[in-house]
Amino acid sequence: MKQRGKKYTVLLIYLVLLLSFNLTGCGKLNDGKRIVRISLGQSETHPQYLGLLAFKDYVEERLGDKYEIQIFPNEILGATQKAIELTQTGAIDFVVAGTANLETFADVYEVFSIPYLFDSEEAYLETMQDEEYMRKIYSSTEEAGFEVLTWYSAGTRNFYAKKPIYTPDDLKGMKIRVQQSPASVKMMQAFGAAATPMSFGEVYTAIQQGVIDGAENNELALTNNKHGEVAKYFTYNMHQMIPDMLVGNLKFLKGLSEEELQIFKEAAALSTEVELEEWNKQVEKAKTMAKEEMNVEFIEVDIEQFKAKMLPLHQEMLEANPAIVDAYQHIQEMNKKVKGEE
Ligand code: GCU
Repeated sequence: MKQRGKKYTVLLIYLVLLLSFNLTGCGKLNDGKRIVRISLGQSETHPQYLGLLAFKDYVEERLGDKYEIQIFPNEILGATQKAIELTQTGAIDFVVAGTANLETFADVYEVFSIPYLFDSEEAYLETMQDEEYMRKIYSSTEEAGFEVLTWYSAGTRNFYAKKPIYTPDDLKGMKIRVQQSPASVKMMQAFGAAATPMSFGEVYTAIQQGVIDGAENNELALTNNKHGEVAKYFTYNMHQMIPDMLVGNLKFLKGLSEEELQIFKEAAALSTEVELEEWNKQVEKAKTMAKEEMNVEFIEVDIEQFKAKMLPLHQEMLEANPAIVDAYQHIQEMNKKVKGEE
C-alpha cells in the first residue's frame, strides 16, 4: 500500500512537471518567458511561502518580460530529498531545503545538524546574517550542482511526542522521527532513542498510527502541519537551530547575466527579511493556538541535561567530516562574541 502511495506520488510529480513543460515548451512560455520553478515543502500560509511571494514580485517587477516565477508548495513536486535531486538536474530551478536534507549532497551543511551548536538564538541570527561568511558556504557546493541564494529561519527544534519528555532518559527506547540526515540519526542514538528518518509529509500519519512515538521540530509543525492533533507534549529542550536554504540550480544561476543575477540576489535577500518578520509573528500565534485549540502541553526542561549528552558528539563529528571544521570554529567565535567574551 505504502509502495503504491509512493508510485502515485512520483507519478503526480511527473504529471505536474510534464504539464508545466508542455504549457511552456521546455521552460519557455508562448510569449517567450522562462518559467522559474521553486519547490517548497510548506503550505501557502507559512512564512517561507510569503517570503517567496516577495521574491516572485521583486523579480517579476524588474524582469517580468523574461521570467515568470512559479511556487509549488506542499511538497507537490516531491518530498525535499526528491526536490533537491530535481534541482540538481535542472528539472526545477530552486528548492527550499533544510540544511539537514542537504548534508548528504554537500558535506559542509552537516555543521548545522550538530546538536547545541549555537549557544543562543542571537548567535544563530548573527551567524546567518553574516553575509560575507555565509556566501563562502553558499558557493562552496558547485560539485553538487547547486548554489544557495539565501537562508530562512526554521526556528529551534524540540521534541514532541504522544507522552511527555522531561529528561533525556525519557527518550530512551522511544521511536523518534528525524529528517533524512545522518547527523540527526547519530544525535538520536546518543540520546538512546530509535531514530526513524522519513520525509516531513509522512510524519503526521506515522505518529497517528503509532509507527513512531514522536518527532522533533519547531512550533509551526504543530499547527501548520497539524502535528499537534496527534502529539500533545512539546518539550522545550532546544537541540538544534537548522536553517532552510533557497537552493538554486547552478546552470540556471550561471546562465543569468550579471544584472539579472543581482536582481535574483536582491529578491532573495528581501524574501529572507519578509520570512523572518513573519516567522516571529507566526511562532507566537502557533504557540497560543497549539495550547488553546489543540491542548498541547509545552514543557520547560533543564536544557543543560540534554546538552551534556550531546557535547561528545561535537568532537566525533568534527573528526569524521573536515568540511565542517572551519564553519564550526567560526560559529564558536560567534557564540563567544555574542556572550561578550571576545
Ligand atoms: C521544518 C523545516 C523544513 C524541514 C522540516 C522537517 O519544517 O522548515 O525544511 O523539512 O522541518 O522536519 O523535515
